[in-house]
Amino acid sequence: MSRLLLGVAGGIAAYKACSLLRLLTEAGHEVTVVPTASSLNFVGEATWAALSGRPVATDVWTNVHEVPHVRLGQNADLVLIAPATADLIARAAAGRADDLLTNVLLTARCPVLMAPAMHTEMWLHPATVANVATLRSRGVIVLNPADGRLTGADSGPGRLPEPEDIYQVALSVLAEAQIATTLQAQDLAGVRVLISAGGTREHLDPVRYLGNSSSGKMGTALARAAVQRGATVTLVAANLQAEIPAGVTVVTATSTADLALRMRELAQQADVIVMAAAPADYTPSSPSATKLKKDADHGLTINLTQTTDVLAGLVHDRIPGQTIVGFAAETAPTADQLIDLGRAKLARKGCDLLVLNDVSGGRVFGQNTNSIIIIGPDGVLGSVTGDKNVVAHHILNSAIAGQTS
Ligand code: CTP
Repeated sequence: MSRLLLGVAGGIAAYKACSLLRLLTEAGHEVTVVPTASSLNFVGEATWAALSGRPVATDVWTNVHEVPHVRLGQNADLVLIAPATADLIARAAAGRADDLLTNVLLTARCPVLMAPAMHTEMWLHPATVANVATLRSRGVIVLNPADGRLTGADSGPGRLPEPEDIYQVALSVLAEAQIATTLQAQDLAGVRVLISAGGTREHLDPVRYLGNSSSGKMGTALARAAVQRGATVTLVAANLQAEIPAGVTVVTATSTADLALRMRELAQQADVIVMAAAPADYTPSSPSATKLKKDADHGLTINLTQTTDVLAGLVHDRIPGQTIVGFAAETAPTADQLIDLGRAKLARKGCDLLVLNDVSGGRVFGQNTNSIIIIGPDGVLGSVTGDKNVVAHHILNSAIAGQTS
């Protein structure tokens, strides 16, 4: 359980901060909301008090004996501002202390995470660009906004990332101080990352398919981590049951053949490729164009043909300097046997790194946590257990070490 301070600035996206607050409190965190005066035009104090279950601090003149303008910032494990408007960002960059929230920003020594939301013109204005750069240079984590429909008819970068997306970044920052550092440093700026996620579906007929249990949570966590570290990220998404992170370019694929085609095309522009998807290894040899009907007691026999090995193809066509990461879901009775399977698969596939996990008993699939071992050509590089967003950062660290070595 952590103590968070949720700052809400005066933009229409303030209503989305209600869902963010719910996610945080339901996960057991203690959240004090500090809305700016103008944000109260969008969402009132009573809503924040009810949702947080705590008193709401709105100005520096209430409970002065408790010195709230100093105490609130000092006591927080994370200051999260959502939405961060152009005005709030400008006041923070200037070091102003003209309301309670900007006082908090000057007194907090914990990580500060801002999720901007504003019209595209405001986000792209040189004043905002300079203010964001100033804040980042001082160690504030400023998320890249989503690209999409804004209030009114316009659309473009400036949309608040979905509450779930902000929540996932906040959790990883709380989990590991090192993650805050990489987000602040934007250490993947200029790196082009291509990730596959989800599970493919191989159709038997227009209605039915052979699929698998992959939700795409690990792949989307990798995309989220990479994009928020400054990378340019393309996600090839196969039937995801997970939120697509803000700022990621998405290309959809249904079957293994589709996935192979998309990955092959996009691989030419990628510095790092991560094959986190679970492509089906077999596809019906002759899928039916019409719905298969029941046939008395005769049962149903399906002939299957092996699909393309997407990863092996990418390794074969690898461009110079590219790092390719594969995944391996294995079941093994002991850790040593698991590692042996991983080493054999790394050698067989020819990729640079292999992320190995034990899926005995359906472990991992659809879960928020994962336990992985990262294997390189010389053996085990490391292992990590935790939230998939945290695990994602460790995988990227290993992949990027391969890029620079
Ligand atoms: N993979 C792939 N194309 C396939 C099957 C798997 O690119 N048709 C990729 C996965 O995305 C993963 C890696 O290969 O990165 C290992 O997947 P896994 O299912 O563990 O290995 P397989 O090659 O299918 O071997 P097996 O199931 O026989 O262990």
